[in-house]
Amino acid sequence: MHIRARAPGRVNLIGGHTDYTGGLVLPMAIDRGTVIEGERGGDEVVLSSREEPGLAVLPLDLADPTVVEPAWARYAAGVVSVLGPTAGFTGAATTTIPIGAGLSSSAAFEVAIALALGFEGDALELALACQQAEHVATGVPCGVMDQLASAAGVDGHALLIDCSTLTVDPIALPESIEVVVVHSGQRRTLSATPYAERREQCRAAEALVGPLRSASLDDVGGIPDPLLRRRARHVVGENGRVRAMAEALRNDDRRAAGEAMAASHASLRDDFEVSTPALDDLVARLSATAGVVGARLTGAGFGGCAVALVERGTPVEGWRVAASAGATVELQP
Ligand code: GLA
Repeated sequence: MHIRARAPGRVNLIGGHTDYTGGLVLPMAIDRGTVIEGERGGDEVVLSSREEPGLAVLPLDLADPTVVEPAWARYAAGVVSVLGPTAGFTGAATTTIPIGAGLSSSAAFEVAIALALGFEGDALELALACQQAEHVATGVPCGVMDQLASAAGVDGHALLIDCSTLTVDPIALPESIEVVVVHSGQRRTLSATPYAERREQCRAAEALVGPLRSASLDDVGGIPDPLLRRRARHVVGENGRVRAMAEALRNDDRRAAGEAMAASHASLRDDFEVSTPALDDLVARLSATAGVVGARLTGAGFGGCAVALVERGTPVEGWRVAASAGATVELQP
């Protein structure tokens, strides 16, 4: 049977480093994605990539995805080890998502391969399985945002995701606004960043004040250690900014949207310390450009991209992305 699975990348409009403490995020699936095409059957997963060298040959009972070669195939290996499929697959992957830019090329790859391997379940189950796959493939304790945005995307809408209840509330994007993603020039992989350390610092703050999701700015203001206090202040403030941004989009209130994005970037830079001078310069340049509603770093930071909301037609150089539907799979006998 011929299979064609497609999963989109995502850009996060606001809600940086909030998903792994059960917070709020506002990503959207984008019109760039990864396609995996091939035939189901056999007792291994054999995969080539149009963008990356080497052929992946993965036994269905593979033990350790972290040592698989070529390295790009580790995400597929993670999915194989989490799903434990009974039949193999032979096919090829191709993507229009820039790799390592913070647009979730890895999550899209995981979601597409899971569908190609015959995953059955709803978008949330698919996302949770692929999040688990990313953990076992890379050791990075990522949240669920990227995989859920790829699995549950809605055409023309950003997704207000509550990472405590795992509910997805689509928010229509105003017609007059476009989303542009601009690369800082700094490429990075998540596993080479202090992402896990930030997650650990949030856990340490939660040991003092309870879940950050329900903590107030007053609660976190009482944390004695200044570093943990700043990390926690970012998360609590950011949850509020996601709510403000969703409201601003609903009301087409450009000023409020721009303010929320600017405050998010400042907090990621000063309190959470995941920006870089290149990202700060880029965001400052974008924010000063006529027609730009707001800009901030997007993804995990430490390099990668900034996202800007712009008035439609504003000549900002970058990837113009449209909010798109989530992953799909087609079977052709
Ligand atoms: C990465 C992770 C996500 C999320 C973001 C930061 O993209 O995969 O789960 O934590 O960083 O918001």
